[in-house]
Amino acid sequence: MTIAPREPVGDNTDADSDQLFARIADDLLAKGYSINPCALPAGLADDLLLHLHAMSERQFAPAGIGREQDQVLNRLVRKDTICWITGESAAGRRWLDWTSRLQSYLNYRLFLGLFSFESHFAHYAEGAFYRRHLDAFKGESNRVLSVVAYLNPGWLPGDGGELVIYPETGATDGIRVTPAFGTLAVFLSEDFEHEVLPTRRDRFSVTGWFRVNSSSALRADPPL
Ligand code: OGA
Ligand code: MN
Repeated sequence: MTIAPREPVGDNTDADSDQLFARIADDLLAKGYSINPCALPAGLADDLLLHLHAMSERQFAPAGIGREQDQVLNRLVRKDTICWITGESAAGRRWLDWTSRLQSYLNYRLFLGLFSFESHFAHYAEGAFYRRHLDAFKGESNRVLSVVAYLNPGWLPGDGGELVIYPETGATDGIRVTPAFGTLAVFLSEDFEHEVLPTRRDRFSVTGWFRVNSSSALRADPPL
């Protein structure tokens, strides 16, 4: 895979994240989604990109959808490959630390009751896409909030690969997000259909979901 050389995301530091977290909370309250260019702390974005450089495509596996096991159908819906972040790498741990601060902040400000977080690197090779979908279905899933951070230096308007978020179900016009280095998109998982338009070059991101705890007497969550 080809990864473009890095370029600075700006000089925002981890300390500036407090302002960013506040803006995300305000946006979520007002409209349910939040798009933030140049938002990732520069050190974190650099670490994630360097880690991607060091990974091999063999560490990425074709992504599945929901409980759908049919790989042929899968390929018609999404063509990205993914690698789950487990905290084995320093970059992964830094990402998990940062998102855990975001989780605490959103719980404190919005009483969201976010309980856990799962995330993966995603690679869309040239021509890859992800058709319009929801990340969670009301009543069926405990994914509450979707987070996507983009790691693509020098993204140009003709490169495609935009994330399109549809503010209303069935709407044909959406909000287009360029997957530029350092951009962070956050949206309510059950409320916003979205898609990834076909990309014309390698496109990298980290995608994650905050979940609420749906444990009950009959079922432990996460499974024990
Ligand atoms: C997903 C997804 C959006 C993106 O992985 O569910 O919608 O912009 N990703 O990569
Ligand atoms: Mn999605």
